Amino acid sequence: MKADLERASAPEPARMEIGPMTLADIGPVMEIERASFSTTWPADAFYNELHTNKLAHYFVGRIAGRIVAYGGIWVIFEDSHVTTIAVDPVYRGRKLGETMLLHLLDRAIEGGAAWMTLEVRESNLAAQQLYRKYGFTTVTTRKGYYSDNNENALVMWAGNLKGEFFRSRLRALRSRFEQR
Ligand SMILES: CC(C)(COP(=O)(O)OP(=O)(O)OC[C@H]1O[C@@H](n2cnc3c(N)ncnc32)[C@H](O)[C@@H]1OP(=O)(O)O)[C@@H](O)C(=O)NCCC(=O)NCCS
Repeated sequence: MKADLERASAPEPARMEIGPMTLADIGPVMEIERASFSTTWPADAFYNELHTNKLAHYFVGRIAGRIVAYGGIWVIFEDSHVTTIAVDPVYRGRKLGETMLLHLLDRAIEGGAAWMTLEVRESNLAAQQLYRKYGFTTVTTRKGYYSDNNENALVMWAGNLKGEFFRSRLRALRSRFEQR
C-alpha cells in the first residue's frame, strides 16, 4: 500500500505541535479526512464548525509545519463529544493519535466537562483500543448508524473526568507517555 511505503520512508517525526484549526487548514485537513474515512465530511462541515459552532473546538497537529493530525470536540456544560480525530496514514503508529486525544481530553476538562462521549465503527479496532486505553467504555450500540455499509456504531463514554479515579489514571498514562 502507498501509505505503508510512505510510512516506512517518513522521517522520524519531531514533536507534534498542536494548535487551533483555522479556515486556512481545511484543505490539508480534508486530504487526511479523505485518506481516513469511507464517508467523509464535506469541507463546508469543517467551515461551519469553525465559523459558526460556538461549542466546537478543533485542533491540528503539525510536524515541521505540515498538518499530520486533527481532532475536534464539542463541550456543552459537563458533556463533551469527540466529533472527529484522525492522523495522516503516513504518520500513524507514532503516538500522534494518542497525543491528539490527550489534547482533546485536556481541553474538555479545562472547558468544564465531566464526561466525554464518541461514536466509533464496530470494525475500527485501532480507534477502540486507543479509547479504551483512556478509560472509555462501550455503553450502547447504535444499529446501522453508518449509512455507507449499515455498520453499527459503538457509543463510548469516559468519566467522571473530574473525579480522582479518572484524573489519577490520566496522570499515570501521561507520565508513561511523556517518558517514552
Ligand atoms: C485511530 C487513530 C487516530 C490512531 O492514531 P495513531 O497515531 O495511529 O495511534 P497511536 O500511535 O497514537 O496509538 C495509540 C494507541 O492507539 C491504539 N492503536 C493505534 N493503532 C492501533 C492498531 N493498528 N491496532 C490496535 N490498536 C491500535 C493502541 O491502544 C495504541 O496504544 P499502544 O501503542 O500503547 O498500544 C488512527 O488510526 C486514524 O487516524 N485512523 C483513521 C481515522 C479514525 O478511525 N478515527 C477515529 C474515528 S472514531
